[in-house]
Amino acid sequence: MQALTYVAYGPVENLSVSEVSAPVPRRHELIVDVNRAALNPKDALFRKGKFSALSGRSFPKRCGLDFAGVVRESRSPHFVCGQRVFGALDEWRFRRGTLAEQVCVSDQESAPLPDGVSDDDAAAIGLVGLTALQTLRDIARLEPAARVWIHGASGGVGTAAVQLARKLGAIVTTTSSASNRGLCLALGAHRALDYAQTPVAELQASIDVVFDVHGNLRINDVSSVFPGTGRFITTIPSARHALLELVTRWSRIQRRLIVVRPRRSDLVQLGAWLSDGTLRAVIDSRFPLARAHDAFRLLESKRARGKILVEIP
Ligand SMILES: NC(=O)c1ccc[n+]([C@@H]2O[C@H](COP(=O)([O-])OP(=O)(O)OC[C@H]3O[C@@H](n4cnc5c(N)ncnc54)[C@H](OP(=O)(O)O)[C@@H]3O)[C@@H](O)[C@H]2O)c1
Repeated sequence: MQALTYVAYGPVENLSVSEVSAPVPRRHELIVDVNRAALNPKDALFRKGKFSALSGRSFPKRCGLDFAGVVRESRSPHFVCGQRVFGALDEWRFRRGTLAEQVCVSDQESAPLPDGVSDDDAAAIGLVGLTALQTLRDIARLEPAARVWIHGASGGVGTAAVQLARKLGAIVTTTSSASNRGLCLALGAHRALDYAQTPVAELQASIDVVFDVHGNLRINDVSSVFPGTGRFITTIPSARHALLELVTRWSRIQRRLIVVRPRRSDLVQLGAWLSDGTLRAVIDSRFPLARAHDAFRLLESKRARGKILVEIP
């Protein structure tokens, strides 16, 4: 079968579509014929070797975490052959990837795809939907009328987070570039600010939770937005994050990091929300697998509005 692979860490040019052996499932795994995949910044960061301590030095490596497709073979009691599924891989070594004709997934990394939800929408929601849900429900513990500021709201995670924060009853403020303010409002933000203006000055003492999706806010610059206690949640790991989480646990402003973990029950919930219209996937563009290089260039420009899809032939 064909898959996008690379044999050394480095730039986009290291990627190529090559012939690889078909995967074989173990217990609680399934083989999925992939129709759609979507890109995430993690694909590019790992390909560049930024996390080589985690991903190791064994090559070739594959790309892609999000998928939608059809079960080809199942060794899980939860899935049957021919069933439409979607999900996201919990993959740190990139021995597997969804930019391939087939992928082997565990039954925690996948969920049935409800009738009426397209492969495009499902592939676009996997990892970012899980990230937004686990951040806002489990770490922020958003309650109705909680005031949340989502920074970097027009990308994959941000567009899902705006909608899920509204679903949880929060009052949502976003920051994005000026040209994406309209998108944030259309997704449900109560207030959409331009990060190039002076959002912190506008938000004085009016926020309970900051979700720094883009990961470039500095706590000292934004602490005035919290009236009292609050949570500052980032997507970007740092060497100090474990220490910071510990030492700020009883501080006025708790610092937290999201580390997303695919979970079938969460994927089922996201599928249901796609199906009933609570959640809509925001899709920037689609590329055929043969043009995956261009898809990665767009991802790495950090200018995509929502998700970049890859069509698997
Ligand atoms: N820790 C975890 O478990 C986890 C899980 C998922 C993702 N992440 C991380 O979360 C981050 C966001 O992921 P994503 O999928 O949302 O990425 P993405 O879709 O590639 O984000 C693109 C967005 O970034 C925004 N952006 C660019 N420059 C910005 C700036 N200076 N300030 C604020 N926003 C800016 C752009 O919006 P504008 O054009 O409007 O500026 C664009 O819409 C990535 O670093 C990713 O690795 C972490």
